[in-house]
Amino acid sequence: MCGIVGYIGKRPALPILVAGLKRLEYRGYDSFGFFALNDVSHFLLKKVGKISEWEEKILETDFKGNLGIGHTRWATTGEVTEKNAHPHWDCNREIYLVHNGIIENYQELKKDLVREGHCFVSDTDTEVFSHLIEEYLKNQNKLEEAVREALKKIKGNYAIAVVSKRDPGKLVVARLGAPLLIGLSDGEYFIASDPAAMISYTRQVINLDDNEIAVLTPQNHFVLKEKPIERIDWEIKEAQKNGFSHFMLKEIFEEPEVITEAIKGRIDFERGLARLGGLEQASEKLSKIERVIITGCGTARYAGMVGEYMFEEYAKVPTKVEVASEFRYRNPLLDEKTVLLAISQSGETADTLEAIREAKRRGSLTLGLVNRVGSSIARETDAGVYNRAGLEIGVAATKSFVSQLTILALLTVFLGRKREMSLVMGRRILEEINKLPQLAERILKQSDFIKELAEKYSEYRNFIYLGRKYNFPIALEGSLKLKEIAWKIHAEGICGGEIKHGPIALLDEDFPVVCIAPSDSVYEKMRNAIEEVKSRNGKVLAIVTEGNREIKELADDVVYIPKTLEMLTPILSVIPLHLFAAYLGLELGLDIDKPRNLAKSVTVE
Ligand code: M6R
Repeated sequence: MCGIVGYIGKRPALPILVAGLKRLEYRGYDSFGFFALNDVSHFLLKKVGKISEWEEKILETDFKGNLGIGHTRWATTGEVTEKNAHPHWDCNREIYLVHNGIIENYQELKKDLVREGHCFVSDTDTEVFSHLIEEYLKNQNKLEEAVREALKKIKGNYAIAVVSKRDPGKLVVARLGAPLLIGLSDGEYFIASDPAAMISYTRQVINLDDNEIAVLTPQNHFVLKEKPIERIDWEIKEAQKNGFSHFMLKEIFEEPEVITEAIKGRIDFERGLARLGGLEQASEKLSKIERVIITGCGTARYAGMVGEYMFEEYAKVPTKVEVASEFRYRNPLLDEKTVLLAISQSGETADTLEAIREAKRRGSLTLGLVNRVGSSIARETDAGVYNRAGLEIGVAATKSFVSQLTILALLTVFLGRKREMSLVMGRRILEEINKLPQLAERILKQSDFIKELAEKYSEYRNFIYLGRKYNFPIALEGSLKLKEIAWKIHAEGICGGEIKHGPIALLDEDFPVVCIAPSDSVYEKMRNAIEEVKSRNGKVLAIVTEGNREIKELADDVVYIPKTLEMLTPILSVIPLHLFAAYLGLELGLDIDKPRNLAKSVTVE
């Protein structure tokens, strides 16, 4: 949800800002803007659309300023227009800033500022920042002090980067509730919402904390609190497409690899245990908990729903999944015997963060299942497990989902073995998990066939996805992916048993139904559902277990997945559905990495 970058140092800032911002476009891409300056002049550009369309023209200017800021927008307050794109400035056009976040009290602040004679040019909440800073700079010379005063007036969340012609040669940044990293190198600093924007230049970073302000000059930096220097452990190749046409495709093809990464060093076959180091400190409490609440949004919540089935069936812990955005508004019943497990790829989703804070206020232990190391959710939860799935740049969550499911399976063994799960069962599950990377590879080998299916089905505009038990959440995930990525299509995920209670009214020969029907404990029920669809002339694309001959006779098309334990089938059944959505989006001529209206990380409530 908006990305910001900044640079101060010895090199021309503009090319660094452009390259960095392109890597952040997954956070928002409706408009963008840059401001850079040197001793005598400045460069300012704001445009609606994608950076790549302007890249050449921007770089042709060859502007030499060594200080600059940039922003890619996902509109919250104010329409998608050039005037609402960032940076925003003050009345004298001396202060320029970029902002990721939302200012809740901007209307009242704006009213006061207008009364005092300030002229606003945009409809955004952000512009109040620049005018407030302008006000405070009247009484002092230091930009950071004016920023500090201005921030005291703000309600909401922000990551900001500010430069001023009145206090030149410095970049001031601050954060509250939105991510902001400072990258350090010799005689230069980089700032960004995400390491992807700076990974080509440095791996030494400071993770700015809430309520901290940092002042950067080419020679040094100053943060209110002394911060430890950390290391980014991603490889540059993760931020590149590596031969794939799109990040989404590359990330789906990484699904076997993320399973391997998720389980590496975490399986003790001998003792039938899952070793989850991040949970060690909470281990004793976890032996005593009586209830688990899993929370998250979108795809992360669907992973949680699979976790709910796993935990109750195998670990025998009562478990419930809550939509994070509803959690704190419905007065949840929590106590110290309840653990809240928050699932989030980005670790920055505002709704999920608020659910964690609510659970903490009510005395519950909080755990995170997070991909982004050092993210807000990773830092605010009491303990947790990292996905180690690497950078996910495509706006749609794909490989992170597969990784979340794998770790939930490990967690099932972790929790189960503290309770009634036998050594034999623990070993059995772990052995099956260990086979998954190879099985996942086998599914990817069918990608050409799945592409053909996407071509065949691209003429339809409505789809239903059906699944039962462990594969009901996969029906939801498959349909979410299709409507996000191939957004000209409407798709709904429905539990297999529910179709006859209403949705069946929709079906005819123009309405394909994707049926996830592996050979598991609910297979017969799913076969009945397929028969019900076929007897209404519906088209059926079925996902079934290798060796199944029966469904081929019934369905229009069949994709086979290898056999595994029932609780692990979602990890395999989702792979063809991710591919199907990606290929169908491409077939419709859409940008599958940046579907319209979406942002990768939703940091506003
Ligand atoms: O970063 P998070 O996992 O917390 O994000 C949660 C959702 O916003 C995310 O899964 C969203 O639904 C994606 N668009 C799914 O593809």
